Amino acid sequence: MMLTISILLNFVIILIFYRKKIRKFLLKSSITNISLSEVDQIFELNPINEILKGPKDNVIIKSFCINSDNPIVGMTSDYEAWIIAALSKKSVNIFEFGTCSGKTTYLMSLNSPVNTKILTLTLDPNSLKKYDIRKTDNKISQRNIMNESIYEKFLFTGKPEEKKINVIFQNSLYFNETEYKNKMDLIFIDGGHTYSVVKNDSEKAFNMINKNGIILWHDYNPGKKSSNDVVKYLNKISKEKKIFKIKNTSLCYYRETSK
Ligand SMILES: C[S@@+](CC[C@H](N)C(=O)[O-])C[C@H]1O[C@@H](n2cnc3c(N)ncnc32)[C@H](O)[C@@H]1O
Repeated sequence: MMLTISILLNFVIILIFYRKKIRKFLLKSSITNISLSEVDQIFELNPINEILKGPKDNVIIKSFCINSDNPIVGMTSDYEAWIIAALSKKSVNIFEFGTCSGKTTYLMSLNSPVNTKILTLTLDPNSLKKYDIRKTDNKISQRNIMNESIYEKFLFTGKPEEKKINVIFQNSLYFNETEYKNKMDLIFIDGGHTYSVVKNDSEKAFNMINKNGIILWHDYNPGKKSSNDVVKYLNKISKEKKIFKIKNTSLCYYRETSK
């Protein structure tokens, strides 16, 4: 009896101590990493001499950083934001799931061609009470959705770049994408990180993406609780779709080649 209790106790202690590693093992990445130059030729390097390579001119962007005293929630890293901004330089129709502060939206507007149109979909902070919770969705992601749906004005509000941007305050689960079928050159999926929302947003993105267009997902972080549903969904669909993870980022990438 004592022996069984002691074995059980040890088992529980191991589970508690190694829970992060166990989670990481169970939800490990099954997606292949690619380097930036494989994502798009704009990221190929420009040799300066034998020991130094620099960026090509078409990835030099207009940018800003968020001051560390400024407590903005739900942002991309500056490296990820640079990748998205550089890709927006050649995108005329852009769609973003999840605006939040509008950091990425603003960068895409600052760097895209003058005739670019950006649609960005986000939850209205005043109607969160009506948000339908699905029992099977990750609880931390549900909480993050509430914490990140707080902005009614954005970093681009009142700026000249706002002209290119159309913010749609709507739950993406009820968004009808048919009007935008095969229209988008660049889609950034960074809305709710619950399984039901990631699945919904991805399926709508696959409908909206144009031939040769790019879809990017944010927060593919195997082992991180708040990313569990993003990892679970992307691992599942990567068996059918050619989805890659961009090295040293939490971005996953897909290019539409079949339309
Ligand atoms: C992580 S933040 C987006 C960050 C932003 N893309 C950036 O790069 O700065 C998540 C955003 O998704 C929105 N969101 C969450 N669930 C949503 C849903 N079901 N429909 C529409 N927007 C949603 C939230 O309101 C929030 O603005």
